Amino acid sequence: MAGQGHLQIDSVSKAFRVNGAPLNVLDSVDLSVAPGEFLTIVGASGCGKSTLLRLIAGLDTEFAGNVVLDGKRVIEPSLDRGLVFQEPRLFPWLTVAQNVALGLLNAGLSKAQKSRSVAEHIALVGLTGFQDAYPHLLSGGMAQRAAIARGLVNRPGVLLLDEPFGSLDALTRARLQDELQRIWAAEGITMLLVTHDVEEAVYLGDRVVVMAPGPGRIAATFDVPQPRPRDRANPALARLQDRVMAALVSTTSEQSPAPHAASRPALAARAFLPEQGFRPI
Ligand SMILES: Nc1ncnc2c1ncn2[C@@H]1O[C@H](COP(=O)(O)OP(=O)(O)O)[C@@H](O)[C@H]1O
Ligand SMILES: [Mg+2]
Repeated sequence: MAGQGHLQIDSVSKAFRVNGAPLNVLDSVDLSVAPGEFLTIVGASGCGKSTLLRLIAGLDTEFAGNVVLDGKRVIEPSLDRGLVFQEPRLFPWLTVAQNVALGLLNAGLSKAQKSRSVAEHIALVGLTGFQDAYPHLLSGGMAQRAAIARGLVNRPGVLLLDEPFGSLDALTRARLQDELQRIWAAEGITMLLVTHDVEEAVYLGDRVVVMAPGPGRIAATFDVPQPRPRDRANPALARLQDRVMAALVSTTSEQSPAPHAASRPALAARAFLPEQGFRPI
């Protein structure tokens, strides 16, 4: 295990240059994530969620402020930060086991240790029996399980998930949410999950962060005190979803008025918050 997974984000600001002019994408983001916490982030498309995850991952180091994991400043990608994206990004010419093993490429383990760890993580995500399958034989949900195994196989302190279930059907999404929660509880890994689905954010998170766009910043945070396992039909969760939704709607109301937002918040948000900002890295 790489560390405790205590993440500290201090005054992080980020600008891109677009056609010679600066585009402020993140403005003074402060966030502290406790070891083993499950933090979820929602925000309108384009508000900088993926950019923030890229900075935490160390994939982009041109920013102001500090990202510190377990007391060490993040200056480059590292095995102590696992990543899972919306699409599984498996190599089609490698089997499930070989794809998962890529997460251990630089881990300095013996061959036997690696194959043991790969098998353990394939079992952890419920793919035992499919280790020798090639990606084209997998359903979308199975492929995403393999991607989660690859993100976890090196036992990172933090797992960063960028809309990991965004392209899955509702039933598979619900199953994988429960699986992820089970893995999180069993492994004690800090998780940061970006989603555009408020229901998902509230169901999974210990805390939900709402980001506002233009430039991206933290607009509100909500504690989710409900014990686990959680009941999706719990009225307290539904009430919290409404509050998160209201905060989310208010972040975008200047740009995109949602006439029915107050009466039908869930539908309103789904209608005008599609995730379009995803970009491969
Ligand atoms: N490499 C880049 N160059 C220029 N602009 C970028 C780049 N990456 C992201 N952006 C811009 O930064 C903003 C935030 O993008 P992103 O982090 O992908 O948002 P989100 O994930 O919340 O949808 C968007 O306006 C996007 O167009
Ligand atoms: Mg994104």
